[in-house]
Amino acid sequence: MQSSVLVVSTDPQGSTVWWANRVGDALPFDFAQAHDDPASLANLKNLGDKARVIVVANQKGGVGKTTATVNLAAVVQAVLGQREGGYLYVFIDTPGSIEDEALLAASLDVADEVIVPMPPEPLAFDPTARTITKVVQPRGLPYHVVVNAWDPRDGKADLEDTQAYIDAMGWPRTKAVIRRYKLHTRAAAEGQVVTQYPKNRVAMEAREDFFRLALELGYGGRS
Ligand SMILES: Nc1ncnc2c1ncn2[C@@H]1O[C@H](COP(=O)(O)OP(=O)(O)OP(=O)(O)O)[C@@H](O)[C@H]1O
Ligand SMILES: [Mg+2]
Repeated sequence: MQSSVLVVSTDPQGSTVWWANRVGDALPFDFAQAHDDPASLANLKNLGDKARVIVVANQKGGVGKTTATVNLAAVVQAVLGQREGGYLYVFIDTPGSIEDEALLAASLDVADEVIVPMPPEPLAFDPTARTITKVVQPRGLPYHVVVNAWDPRDGKADLEDTQAYIDAMGWPRTKAVIRRYKLHTRAAAEGQVVTQYPKNRVAMEAREDFFRLALELGYGGRS
């Protein structure tokens, strides 16, 4: 029996790597690192049609790419379970900088689709627009913008402004929003993904956001 999900980090800053080391053996999905060998990404093409390759991208740093990558991977793995026959989903985490655009490009070369996480704050608008219009759209790849780290305690104004901006730009946006929870911020330090959070109400809500997102995007729906 094998994992159904592979996570690949292409971030030379290596936050995913650092993170994966922390989680160690408890990691529920397989993990590989490709930032020092972007040519190796081409091997993902050999996984065949069965494997859906999802690149998580935004050239603005700190928008939640790594958080979205590892937690989406965790919930999809939880839905599919261990099985024979190779990976069904590959999630590629990419660098949050313009300088590393070659690594992002190598990732997009093997992508079936793209997820663009974006926080509900005006400062994120322009850099996100750059990634989408200059890097993602020219490739004609399907993509979705996902609002990440919305704090309901701040009220709905920022969320609605951001959603209105995304819609005005004509970008496909998921209905599912990932809320901000301290739990997520602490998770990396504690070596946990959402499927490993403790069983309490807040953790359940935090986990639910990723299950809802996976469901909306159709991840895990195939057998
Ligand atoms: N939904 C969330 N709730 C709480 N904290 C979050 C959430 N999303 C991200 N964070 C926190 O924000 C910080 C940045 O998130 P993350 O590392 O996932 O972003 P990134 O886009 O991968 O950054 P980089 O561009 O540096 O790779 C981290 O400390 C993370 O724990
Ligand atoms: Mg990251």
